[in-house]
Amino acid sequence: MAQAARPVGAYHVRHIAMHWTVVFLVLFQYATGGRMEQAYLYGVEYGVLPMDGVLYVHGIIGTCILIAMLVRLYLRLKHGAPPPPDNEPKPIQILSRATHFAFYGLLIAMPLFGMAALWVKAGWLGQVHGIAAYVVLGLAVLHVAGAMWHAIKRDGVVSRMGGGTTVTRTTT
Ligand code: HEM
Ligand code: HEM
Repeated sequence: MAQAARPVGAYHVRHIAMHWTVVFLVLFQYATGGRMEQAYLYGVEYGVLPMDGVLYVHGIIGTCILIAMLVRLYLRLKHGAPPPPDNEPKPIQILSRATHFAFYGLLIAMPLFGMAALWVKAGWLGQVHGIAAYVVLGLAVLHVAGAMWHAIKRDGVVSRMGGGTTVTRTTT
């Protein structure tokens, strides 16, 4: 007898709100990152950071991302995540989990490196921050491609980051 389909479930509504807030804030960081790099490299060379508004805005928004990611981590540990669809191939499940895990790690570590770079004014700290920015960008491309793949399959995975409060951990 065919097994009943597993309910797809959804993320907690607060978790969904945080997901989209962070996406919006991260876009802003990429919009200001180039200007930030210029101002920072000037500061490293001449020992004084220019009083450029972008230094504050990028730093403050980046710190908001750090706080948002810590809140998200708490919500994730408290409310869990819905299980993958039944027919999701194992390697895709692993890739998806690894991507999400890396997002958490990088979006928490990046602001810390950015802060340290401003504090110590050492070029290598800024470089680590800049390299991490490219890794996050690569992961975002992979992640959005994954979301589009799910959208084409119409398996309900995309909509669970779009609304609802049910989190289903059951496997039957
Ligand atoms: C997750 C949050 C953040 C993201 C996504 C982000 C993103 C970026 C990006 C894309 C760049 C340009 C990198 C390049 O082209 O080399 C950049 C540069 C920079 N950011 Fe952030 N940033 C974040 C948080 C912060 C915070 C909290 C601070 C400091 C308080 C900060 C300080 C810097 C500095 C100093 C640079 C210039 C470093 C360099 O490129 O040499 N960032 N950031
Ligand atoms: C148009 C852009 C995006 C779409 C459509 C999208 C969609 C989704 C969906 C549907 C999920 C749930 C996946 C599942 O349940 O297996 C998810 C999870 C996640 N997304 Fe996105 N996302 C987008 C952009 C981003 C960006 C830019 C980031 C990072 C900056 C991000 C970070 C995450 C993380 C960390 C999770 C895992 C949540 C958890 O399990 O705790 N997303 N996203």
